[in-house]
Amino acid sequence: MSAEQSQSATRLFLVSAHNSPVLAPDWLEVPADPNDLAAGVWPATAHRAGDGQLSLGGIPAGDLAARFGTPVLVLDEADARARASEAHRAFTSAAEAHGTTARVYYAGKAFLSVEIARWMLEAGLNVDVCSGGELEVALAAGVPAAQIGFHGNNKSVPELVRAVEAGVGSIIVDSDIEIERLGEITARLGAVQNVLVRVRSGVHADTHDFLATAHEDQKFGFSLADGEAAALRIREIDGLNLLGLHCHIGSQIFGVDGFRESAQRVLEVHQRLLEGGDVPLLNLGGGFGIAYTRADDATPIADLASDIVAVVAEACFERGIALPTLAFEPGRAVIGPAGVTLYEVGTTKTVELDEGARTYISVDGGMSDNARPALYGAQYSARLASREGAGEPALSRVVGIHCESGDIVVDHEYLPDDVGPGDLLAVPVTGAYCAALSSNYNHTPRPPIIAVERGAARLLVRGETIDDLLARDIAYTTAAADREVAGEGEE
Ligand code: LLP
Repeated sequence: MSAEQSQSATRLFLVSAHNSPVLAPDWLEVPADPNDLAAGVWPATAHRAGDGQLSLGGIPAGDLAARFGTPVLVLDEADARARASEAHRAFTSAAEAHGTTARVYYAGKAFLSVEIARWMLEAGLNVDVCSGGELEVALAAGVPAAQIGFHGNNKSVPELVRAVEAGVGSIIVDSDIEIERLGEITARLGAVQNVLVRVRSGVHADTHDFLATAHEDQKFGFSLADGEAAALRIREIDGLNLLGLHCHIGSQIFGVDGFRESAQRVLEVHQRLLEGGDVPLLNLGGGFGIAYTRADDATPIADLASDIVAVVAEACFERGIALPTLAFEPGRAVIGPAGVTLYEVGTTKTVELDEGARTYISVDGGMSDNARPALYGAQYSARLASREGAGEPALSRVVGIHCESGDIVVDHEYLPDDVGPGDLLAVPVTGAYCAALSSNYNHTPRPPIIAVERGAARLLVRGETIDDLLARDIAYTTAAADREVAGEGEE
C-alpha cells in the first residue's frame, strides 16, 4: 500500500468511526452537509458568503473576530428588534381579537444592557426586572418607570424603596413579609404602589426541574389559597393597589397545555377576588420555548399567543367574568435566537471508545460564557464559521477551556473532520441566559457583546480584561499602590 493509499484507508476508517451513530443521541442526524445552517436556529441575517464564511448582519465572522477577538457574543440587531416587535404584535393582536388589551414585558433576566432595553422600548415592549441591578439598567436606558415590572422573591428594603420612589409600574409581591415592608414604605413615602400577587398554580411545566416555577415545592410566590389571602390583605393597605395575580409556570416550555391548565386554576382565585373589587390584570409570565437545535420544533410566538389568549378568553367566558387585561413576559423567545457566539478552535483530539470515536474540539471560551449545558444539560449546535469545511461529518463535542470535564459548549454535533486550530466556530441561539449567567470562573474575563446590523458592528458591552479582574484583588492593588509610592516602574 502506498502512503497515499494507506492514508485514505485510515481516513475511510476514521470517517465511519467518526460517524459513530451509537455515540450520537437519537435526535441528532448525520447531516448531508455539515456546513449547512439549519432553518429556525440561526438569526435572520446569517448566511454563508461567497467565500464560505459565515456572515452575520452583513459582516464575515473573520472580520468580527479580527476586530473584537474571541469569544465574542454577536447580536443580530435586526433579528432581535423583529422578534421584539413580533412578540408585541402577537400578544396585543391576540388580545384585541378577544376584546381586551395586552401588556408585553421583555424579561430582562434573559439579557439586559442599556441598549437592549432601548430596542425593547422602541418595539413597544415594557421591561420586567428581577433585581436592583436590572432595575438600574432599565432606568438608565430611559425606560419610563411606569413601564417596569419588578420581580423577585427577596427584594431588599432599599430596592423596594428605590422602586416605589422611582414610580415603578408594578411590583410583583412574593411573600407576606414583602407586603408588610411595602405597606410601611408606601406609608412613609406617602405613595401608592401598584402590585400583583405572584401565585404558584401547582402546574409542573414540562421542562428542566430548575426551570419550572409553578409547582408547589419551590421558593417563588404563594400557593393559590395563600395568594388569595395575600390579595385580600393588600386591599386593606392604603398604600397598595392590587392589580391582579401573576403566575409564571417556567421557562423553555413548548405548547399551550401548561399555560391552559395554569390559567384555569389562577382564574378561579381571580374570580373570587372580583367579588371584593376590581381585578384589572392577569399576568401569565413568560417561558415560551425556542429551537436550540434543528431537532426542536418551536411554535411561532404568534400561534402561541393566539392559543393562550383564546384559552383564557374561553375560561373567562365559561365563568361569566370579563376578560381582564393580560400581561406576558417573554425573554428567551425575544433575544435568544438573535445571539451567536464566535469562538476560536485551539486544539482537537479524537477519543476512541468501544462504541466509536468522538472528536473533542476545544474552543477559547466555555462554561464561563455559557453555563447552560453544565447547569441544565442544554443542547446547542455549532458550525464552522471562518470557512466551509471540506471534511466528512464527524461526531464532535465542543468543549471549553475550564478545569471541569462538564465544561461543554456543544454536547453533540456533526462537524467537518478537518476542523483545526485557528478555525472559528459559531454557536447559535446564545442571546438568552448566556451573557446573563456568565462568570469569571478560572479567572476568565467575560467576552464582549456586540451588535451587528447592515454591515456595521458596534460594541454594546466591552469585554473584561485580566486587569479588570485584578483590580478587585486587594492584595494586588495594595502591592501596586505600594510600588507606585516607592517610585518603581518610573524612569
Ligand atoms: N417572567 C418570570 C417571572 C420569570 O421568572 C422568567 C424567567 C420569565 C418571565 C422569562 O422567561 P423566558 O420567556 O425567558 O423563558 N436560566 C434559565 C432560565 C431561567 C428563567 C427564569 N425566569 C435558562 O438558562 O434556561
